[in-house]
Amino acid sequence: MTGQQPVRIGVIGAGMMGRELAIVCGRWMQLIDHPVRPEVVAVADRNPAMFDWFRQIPSVRTFTEDWRVLVDDPDIDVLYIAVPHNQHEELYLAAIAAGKDFLGEKPFGIDLAAAKTIVAAIEASDVFVRVSSELPYFPGALACARIAGSGALGDIIEVRSGFSHSSDMDRAKPINWKRQREFCGAIGVMGDLGMHVAHVPLRLGWRPRTVYALLDDIVTQRSVAGNPGSMVPCDTYDNALLACRVPDATRDFAMLWETRRIAPGQTNTWWFEALGMDGGVRFSTRTPTYYERFELKDKAQVWQQIQPGNVSAWPVISAAIFEFGFADALLQMWACFLGERAGALGDKFGTATPQEALQSHLVFDAALKSDEQNAVLPAIPVT
Ligand SMILES: NC(=O)c1ccc[n+]([C@@H]2O[C@H](COP(=O)([O-])OP(=O)(O)OC[C@H]3O[C@@H](n4cnc5c(N)ncnc54)[C@H](O)[C@@H]3O)[C@@H](O)[C@H]2O)c1
Repeated sequence: MTGQQPVRIGVIGAGMMGRELAIVCGRWMQLIDHPVRPEVVAVADRNPAMFDWFRQIPSVRTFTEDWRVLVDDPDIDVLYIAVPHNQHEELYLAAIAAGKDFLGEKPFGIDLAAAKTIVAAIEASDVFVRVSSELPYFPGALACARIAGSGALGDIIEVRSGFSHSSDMDRAKPINWKRQREFCGAIGVMGDLGMHVAHVPLRLGWRPRTVYALLDDIVTQRSVAGNPGSMVPCDTYDNALLACRVPDATRDFAMLWETRRIAPGQTNTWWFEALGMDGGVRFSTRTPTYYERFELKDKAQVWQQIQPGNVSAWPVISAAIFEFGFADALLQMWACFLGERAGALGDKFGTATPQEALQSHLVFDAALKSDEQNAVLPAIPVT
């Protein structure tokens, strides 16, 4: 497509997620009528071995072990910052101070204090910042969010939102930063998976007023890579079950947020379900081709299975009968992030906002205390 404005992206943190962005840029031509065309022009990682994979991308002109080089580079328009959680605050604040727009990875600060500092700095600046959360971009998830947001469900009975995987089922898997409180944060699995679970409910205005949490650290030690005999603490929560009360027009309804790294039978399952007195919706990435809708028809209780097809937030050239997957969700998130930055989002589903990240932190912080005290505690103040 001609007339697209180039957007030069600098990637800080060339690990798993940094590479995913480069792949997204490579298939940008799948999008219809997008106002910009992103390309990765610079990569920063403290481990230079990570540069090898990026060398196959002709547009990358800068490789550096110093992230400040990218923050200070006037020829970079947007940063993607995908580093361990203990570094979010320092790097995000530096990007904001330099006036750089960026997509920041979740959880958007290692803890509530960091998230508050980051969000305050963003709100005092002119930078355009959003938070990574791609799973609501599955067509079935978008449809459920749209229906739930339309009021068609009537008075809400209850909501469930969850993300379960089994990456930590193997006790012999060596330790990495995501399993260590110092780098991942005391919130553990909530920091890894919680933003994904919070994004749609918070977008619908369903903000937990209170939370009661059950947090589990199941595997407490792991070996060091390359040295199976040496065990070190694995001191983050693996699984978290949050039972919340959400203020609604007539009463506080129940909402469950579930995040699990140890979930037998799951690989990477994200789901959302909302049930109301007049209808219900549910979607799971485990059955990505359809979502379900509940209706009362002539007093019969009917769950319909609806196949939305490949009808995404941002239109694509691929036929609607083709099926949608994780890589498509990432493309859609970036299309909406850069489309919104260009003022062209329209009524499409926007990427998670810094305020939504902050609200999720309020809930996770309250959940930590709730589990310690075995008590129902206030989460997001009602304004
Ligand atoms: N949106 C998603 O679906 C999703 C999935 C996984 C991880 N994440 C998030 O992405 C972020 C990164 O996770 P990941 O899985 O890519 O981790 P990773 O360990 O694969 O990659 C992180 C990279 O950052 C580099 N790094 C660390 N400190 C650095 C610094 N100061 N300067 C430059 N480079 C530095 C490391 O060397 C590593 O290559 C985290 O916030 C994580 O929660 C998001």
